[in-house]
Order: sequence, then structure tokens, then C-alpha cells
Amino acid sequence: MKNIILVVDDDKTNLALAQKILGSQYRIAASTSGAAALKYLEAHRPDLILLDINMPEMDGFEVMECLRSDVNTELIPVIFLTADSLAETEIKCFQMGAMDFVTKPFVPDILLSRVSKTIELDQYRHNLENMVNTQAQKITEDAQRLGRIQDSVIIGMANLIESRDGSTGKHVKNTQNYVRMIANELLSRRLFPEELTPSYIEDLCKAAPLHDVGKIKIPDAILQKPGKLTPEEFDTMKLHTTHSRKIIQTIIGDIEDEHYVRLVEDIALYHHERWDGTGYPAGLTGSNIPLSARIMAVADVFDALYEERCYKPPIRPIERIMQIMSEGRGTQFDPVIIDVFNEMLPQLKEVLHLTDIIT
Ligand SMILES: [Fe+2]
Repeated sequence: MKNIILVVDDDKTNLALAQKILGSQYRIAASTSGAAALKYLEAHRPDLILLDINMPEMDGFEVMECLRSDVNTELIPVIFLTADSLAETEIKCFQMGAMDFVTKPFVPDILLSRVSKTIELDQYRHNLENMVNTQAQKITEDAQRLGRIQDSVIIGMANLIESRDGSTGKHVKNTQNYVRMIANELLSRRLFPEELTPSYIEDLCKAAPLHDVGKIKIPDAILQKPGKLTPEEFDTMKLHTTHSRKIIQTIIGDIEDEHYVRLVEDIALYHHERWDGTGYPAGLTGSNIPLSARIMAVADVFDALYEERCYKPPIRPIERIMQIMSEGRGTQFDPVIIDVFNEMLPQLKEVLHLTDIIT
């Protein structure tokens, strides 16, 4: 299929000459004015434009400005045609974005050579652009696929660990849901604006399933003990937070997103800290406890109270749980978060019912 060349020249003799020289190799479209050429370009996309500079009403430079300011025509290669061969004219042609410059009267071999080289060069550019776009799309798809695999592995690993600790088997999914709900509610109320953003919440929800990953190193005898833990056993249990951080550093420490890795570590290490500093493992107080861990703490305790565990029955009704948790306002929990959580009671009831998280 022949390439299409639009020749724009007010002199019909030149148009006829261009047709004679180029017509055997290309399809020629001809316009005798800039306005007619722009009209033609509204419906056609030639492979090259030969554009005369000196034309009445709209000269070649004005036409060129219109071409370059329109996304549909800005990339069409242009060769200027002119009767003068002044250096200033040539410089201006290239400054305007022309690919080349041909003087009139046409020398057939020169015109043919410049036209073929310009079209060839533009095709290379076009092919290269397609290649770059294809590669970029492939890289994005590969990254997304790897991300999905990584997320599945994380969830799978978290579920595996959870299956050992005597919980109902829904803790990972439940706490992730609660974390998302609480964080979105805080965001909608514009609380913690310096940290809480949609992308932070996205990372937070991806990180939440890993909060107890360190339990993999806790012996079954402690993890599945039906009764109360002895002080020594509880000390061992507390170590799951520091174990979690070490495991997280091993499994995702080489991810380039330092912010995400830090967030996962914070959740795992600090979700048993208490607002008054009596938590573990670091005894952090107040807002020194990372926000991610303060949110996780509320979600974690709520689920622990609502669900059955090997060491306790589920607590009902939900209002009783909210009351128990409110007693930890300012001692166990961030007062702002627990206040908002309390106000989420209708929302919680609705979601629990709708998603049938709790039967
Ligand atoms: Fe924990």
C-alpha cells in the first residue's frame, strides 16, 4: 500500500510537478491553500506533508503552527518547500519542527530522496514508539502479576499460621476488613491528615494480614492452650511481635518500596503496644506508636472479642464489646480512633450482617 503525501502549494504547476515526480511511488493529495490542507487533515492522516512557505492568506509557517498544536497532526512529518535558499529561512524551518527543507524548482532525484528518507525515518520513529509502549505495558503487567502473586503468598502464609492458633480461621480476613473500615472512616473525617491517604490505606490493608506472622515460631502448646497462659508462656507469646518483624524483613525486606516495608514492620511489631505505654514489645506511648499499629490494635482486639477462641467463647452482643473496648480509651487504645470506632457501630453491624463474616 502506497504512502500518502499531502502537497500544499498555491502554485498548481508545482503541484503537478510533485505529482509527476512522486506519483509513481506515492499517493498524492494536493491542496492549493493552508486552509484547504487543514480541512483535508480533519479527516485524513497522510504519511508526509510537503508544505510551501510562501502562500497568500495563510503561509506555510502559520499552517505549521496549527499542525503542531493539534494532537492529531503534531507528529506528521513536514518538509518545507520554498523558492529561496536563505540560511535564516532554513533555520526557521527546522525551529518550527520541519523534518527537512527542499528548494524550488524541484530537482526530481533530490525531492524523491528526501521524501523517501523522511518517510523511512518517521516509520522507524513510529516502530520504536510502539516497541517502547509494548515493553512498558508488559513491564506494568509483569509488575501487577508479581504483585498479585506476592499478595496471594502473603495471604496464604497468614492463613496457614492462623490455622495453628486455634482461632476460627477468619481472623486474617476479618481484621483486614476492620482495618480498611476504620482507616476509611478516619480518612472521611479528615483525621490524621498528614499520614492517612488513600494510598496509605491501600498499603495498610495489604500489610494487615501479616500482623501475626511471627506466631509461626510460637509452640503449639502455647498457641493452642485452651486456658489462661502462665506468665512465662505469655512472655513467649509476646515474642511473636519481634519474630514477625524478623520474618517480614526476610520475606519482603528487599522490596524497593521502603515505605510499605516499614508499614508492615510497624503493624507487626507494635500492634500490642498500648496508648499508656504498658504494652509490648517496646512500651511505646501515645502517638509514638505508629498510626498503622494503633488502627490494627483496635481491629485485632475487636475480632478477638467477637470471635470464638480456643481459650474463650465469643462475646455478645456487639454493644458489650464496644463497651469493653471503650474502657480501654486512652489506656489501651488511641482515644480518637476508639471514639470513631464506637460511632461506627451501625456500620459494623450492617457489614457483619451483609458479608456474613460472623455467623
Ligand atoms: Fe498479635
